Amino acid sequence: MAAQEWIAGTAPERPSPRDALTIKRIVRVNHAGEYGAIRIYSAQIAIARRLWPDMVPALRQMLQDEIDHCGKFHAAMPARDSRPCRIMQLWSLGGSLLGVTTALMGRQVIWICTAAVEETVHRHLDEQLHFLKGRDAGLHAVIAGIREEELAHLRHAEAELDGKPKRPLQSAMQRAIAIVTEILIWLSTWGDSSRMARALREARA
Ligand SMILES: [Fe+2]
Ligand SMILES: [Fe+2]
Repeated sequence: MAAQEWIAGTAPERPSPRDALTIKRIVRVNHAGEYGAIRIYSAQIAIARRLWPDMVPALRQMLQDEIDHCGKFHAAMPARDSRPCRIMQLWSLGGSLLGVTTALMGRQVIWICTAAVEETVHRHLDEQLHFLKGRDAGLHAVIAGIREEELAHLRHAEAELDGKPKRPLQSAMQRAIAIVTEILIWLSTWGDSSRMARALREARA
């Protein structure tokens, strides 16, 4: 077993019941989010294979990363008494729909989608890392590693979009995707995502 998987499987420090609940929700929402990302990239690859074949290798690499992330969060679940999200079907359906729609709208929209999702995810991972410090070192290490790869996805999308003017519809699409991702995260954490965002804002103030 890889070292990081072993860390993910170990029991966390002894957090308070309220913190333990938040930790459980963090693992659950991250697992669901990675699953949604797998569905997005899988759908985009299916369309891109026909329409934009040159994009397939980059999308495949991102898909592989998301599969790996999903497995790590799944491995972290039992020690934290966490289980897959009750709205997994929604994440799955939403991811597939988003992947198909964006890939059909054009290559630039694929990168707009990646940028919107990864930017939202990245912000939440920062909030989670702040919360987990001193509460669950194992999960903190797992998320810190994954955060680097999510950042690479975001940078890749931003580089692809760099200098290309966005049409109003594309800007609206980017905002809409970010909002939907936020809502799904909020629902999957029962609002704990707001609590963590507030804590990080206060710490930075
Ligand atoms: Fe991921
Ligand atoms: Fe990603």
